[in-house]
Amino acid sequence: MAGQVAGLFPFLFISIEAVFELSTLQFSDDTSYWRQNSYYIAFQNHRAGFILSGDNIHVDGYNSGGINGNGDVWYDEDKGKSTEGRPMPFVLWNITDSSVDNFFVKQPQFWAINIMNGTNLSFENITSSAVSNNAPAGSNWVQNADGFNTMDAHNITLKNFLYQGGDDCVAIKPRSFDITIDGITCEGGNGIAIGSLGQYLEDNSVENVTINNAKMVRSGFPMRWCVYIKTWMGDLVPQTSYESEGQPRGGGWGKVRNLLFSNFELVGVERGPYITQDNGGNAENKGTSKMEISDITFRGFTGTLSSTIAPGYYQAAIGAVCDAYDPSEISTRPEHSAPFPIPSIFKGYPRLHISIQKKT
Ligand SMILES: *[C@@H]1O[C@H](CO)[C@@H](O)[C@H](O)[C@H]1NC(C)=O
Ligand SMILES: *[C@@H]1O[C@H](CO)[C@@H](O)[C@H](O)[C@H]1NC(C)=O
Ligand SMILES: *[C@@H]1O[C@H](CO)[C@@H](O)[C@H](O)[C@H]1NC(C)=O
Ligand SMILES: *[C@@H]1O[C@H](CO)[C@@H](O)[C@H](O)[C@H]1NC(C)=O
Ligand SMILES: *[C@@H]1O[C@H](CO)[C@@H](O)[C@H](O)[C@H]1NC(C)=O
Ligand SMILES: *[C@@H]1O[C@H](CO)[C@@H](O)[C@H](O)[C@H]1NC(C)=O
Repeated sequence: MAGQVAGLFPFLFISIEAVFELSTLQFSDDTSYWRQNSYYIAFQNHRAGFILSGDNIHVDGYNSGGINGNGDVWYDEDKGKSTEGRPMPFVLWNITDSSVDNFFVKQPQFWAINIMNGTNLSFENITSSAVSNNAPAGSNWVQNADGFNTMDAHNITLKNFLYQGGDDCVAIKPRSFDITIDGITCEGGNGIAIGSLGQYLEDNSVENVTINNAKMVRSGFPMRWCVYIKTWMGDLVPQTSYESEGQPRGGGWGKVRNLLFSNFELVGVERGPYITQDNGGNAENKGTSKMEISDITFRGFTGTLSSTIAPGYYQAAIGAVCDAYDPSEISTRPEHSAPFPIPSIFKGYPRLHISIQKKT
């Protein structure tokens, strides 16, 4: 399959077993067309431009095939902000027992690869690259061009993944279970997000996630967090961005447990692992998060921190479950290209067990 995705069939439903051999699928540059005609996604009021749905779908790009979202026209239009209607170029939605291999998604208009309601999926040798050709030096015009996202997902493996861009390399979103990721390189952006969780009044649990062998590299864009867990405040709080559709958000609940992050090599990363439970709210909602976090392990983190942001910037994780976060510990972290392993930056949570172990 090759050529332009013009909009005649932005939504592809496949219910039979299919083997795809893809060269490049390129989205047209008609942003107003796509803003009007993409497929609505309730989560954060987003849109999909191309959806795979069904059972036993196997996509192989043979290392030369993939999707080109023609993202520059969107990055130029939005210039670093994110406006409503930017279609995701590759959404796997209501899909089981399927695979994607040797495949790229470049210049995505929005999140590059997004799984929603996916079970038994494997991905191997995937590249996701969001680089603006027109952004002035130093500005990040590719916000929200995440790499690999999961939601309502069970038993997903991702092996050998390269992300280049300015946002989340991987984002593990609500109700993701049994996610195994091995061998990823994130060049620029936020690194690996667990979240956002708790934005909606529903169970937002995330359980059994293993991410092994990750390299986080400062490149064209700053490399901000390496791994962060982000939960919303426990109250419904009025929001202004289009993502909330004029509704108050927050107040979601659930458990975040049994997450293992191991063998991380950091090159010029601004901050070490990070947990915040105060997303989306105001000072008076701090500490109200209903997401319970436990059994999080960061093991074998080595490399350098650039620490361009003062250590005190860390938001305290002072949710209902995570009490007694001690930011003073942060300041003992090595700064300015100092070597890891990082010291134990989290301590004293009554029910939060985080162990940061030295690489042996
Ligand atoms: C996926 O399934 C949900 C509920 O079963 C449905 O609302 C949604 O439209 C489906 N998505 C697609 C792309 O068919
Ligand atoms: C996932 O499927 C379940 C069950 O069919 C449905 O309730 C839910 O809305 C779906 N979620 C999405 C994001 O399609
Ligand atoms: C997970 O998915 C893979 C296919 O990607 C399958 O081979 C395996 O049996 C599944 N595991 C479980 C426990 O369902
Ligand atoms: C996932 O794979 C397992 C193991 O092969 C199988 O038992 C299960 O039915 C699959 N789940 C779905 C939703 O296809
Ligand atoms: C991924 O790439 C490696 C190295 O080229 C190759 O050996 C492996 O077969 C590829 N995986 C798949 C599923 O094609
Ligand atoms: C998480 O893993 C544990 C241990 O293997 C297992 O008992 C539990 O059922 C898993 N949870 C989910 C939601 O898959």
